[in-house]
Amino acid sequence: MSDFEERAKEAIANPQNMGEMEDADRVGTVGSPDCGDMLRMWIKFTEKDGKKVIDRASFQSFGCQTAIAVASMATELLKGKTSEEAKELSPHDLSGDLGSLPPMKIHCGELVQNALSQALDENPASTEEAVPSAPTLASDMNSASKKGKIKIVPLNSEEDA
Ligand code: FES
Repeated sequence: MSDFEERAKEAIANPQNMGEMEDADRVGTVGSPDCGDMLRMWIKFTEKDGKKVIDRASFQSFGCQTAIAVASMATELLKGKTSEEAKELSPHDLSGDLGSLPPMKIHCGELVQNALSQALDENPASTEEAVPSAPTLASDMNSASKKGKIKIVPLNSEEDA
């Protein structure tokens, strides 16, 4: 097992910041057309030294374990960053202590990066507008799965394509 796989396994065993955030300011959801995995990220801002910075971030993911490991790292790394700083982070940056993503896993990091940039770019800052109208990731997944658009792979699956 490579160092990356070892560290990813540890991160998956104890993921940080996993779950919906009820008082989030922003939310971003992306799905990968290649593998069918989906990821949603919530962001909450705070004011520090006159700057608007990320107070906390959380995520929910269905599918790939690498995306879960990266999202777990990324949601820790984002704390204290401004929107602009967060937008500049590459998938490798977001992987933090996991180390460089193997070539086959780069798109897993991009899924996290895309969810983050969607949250930062496209969704209203107002909690009233953003969050209550946002369906849960599970409901999105269920309806997409019923329409035969995606295949759901349980998190405890050995399969980590
Ligand atoms: Fe789909 Fe990793 S995000 S395999």
